[in-house]
Amino acid sequence: MRGEVTDIRTAMAATGAEVERALDRLLPKPVDTEARLFEAMRYAALGGGKRLRPFLVMSSAKLFGVAETCALRVAAAIECVHCYSLVHDDLPAMDDDDTRRGKPTVHKAFDEATAILVGDALLTFAFELASDPATHADPMVRSTLVQALARAAGGHGMVGGQMLDMLADHETFDIGTVTRLQRLKTGALFAFSCEAGAILGRADDSRRQALRAYAHDMGLAFQIADDLLDVEGRAEDIGKRVGKDQAQGKATFVSILGVDRAREQARLLADQAIAHLAVFEQRADPLRSVARFVVDRRS
Ligand code: IPE
Ligand code: IPE
Ligand code: MG
Ligand code: MG
Ligand code: MG
Repeated sequence: MRGEVTDIRTAMAATGAEVERALDRLLPKPVDTEARLFEAMRYAALGGGKRLRPFLVMSSAKLFGVAETCALRVAAAIECVHCYSLVHDDLPAMDDDDTRRGKPTVHKAFDEATAILVGDALLTFAFELASDPATHADPMVRSTLVQALARAAGGHGMVGGQMLDMLADHETFDIGTVTRLQRLKTGALFAFSCEAGAILGRADDSRRQALRAYAHDMGLAFQIADDLLDVEGRAEDIGKRVGKDQAQGKATFVSILGVDRAREQARLLADQAIAHLAVFEQRADPLRSVARFVVDRRS
């Protein structure tokens, strides 16, 4: 078990370094009159984060023999969407946070207007990356990819989840609504990340579906772990403020179930996620390890 966790950390660190290099190469350089925007985009996207979504893209792509150079562009694209979501999530109008990934949030290091624009620019840049012929030679594959990314990021995905999350500060949500909230706010980008490999590799529907099912359960387990870290984690480890959900009176799995049952639920979901991977046999071992990693993580 310990060996497995060490392996997955090493594998994630290696992918993280590759994604860092890709983002550094692909993101606009801070030159010209708009340099401030590009500097802030780089500040938001470079030098931090677990790069979990890119790891899912690379691991799912490997299942279908997709060229690494293509998968890496999609990995960079989903990380841009994720980073945009974090920049906006931290704004005063939303969670009002000063620290992210161990450094001042974008609106603190720059200003609020720049943070809004950085989010807009990272989101649109993700689509520029995904739709580029360098990502896949087949236009049908690219359009399927772009549509899946749009669905995952938009109102029926992450943004819809963020809306529910804002409402969760004021309303008493039951466990069903909190589950829906988390599936949208976190699960949707995870689902895209796993599905991306199947899309790039033109996998059959049943395999694509198996990866989606894995991602949904794993994403939920991941978000429960995030909520647990908000209660039990250390700011030095997680690089962001702790205790903020409770301070905002936010409905989470932890507020509804309590710490112990929430942890148990996260473990059950990780097992359930792993069960969806049977069809891939041992080739899906990295994805199995990720599911265990997300519930045991300390950051
Ligand atoms: C944080 O995501 C936001 C949530 C969806 C809970 P991560 O924990 O993946 O953040 P980074 O990318 O490692 O900073
Ligand atoms: C953020 O969720 C999820 C997205 C940005 C989509 P949280 O608000 O729980 O994330 P943290 O705790 O600030 O990282
Ligand atoms: Mg939030
Ligand atoms: Mg937040
Ligand atoms: Mg949180």
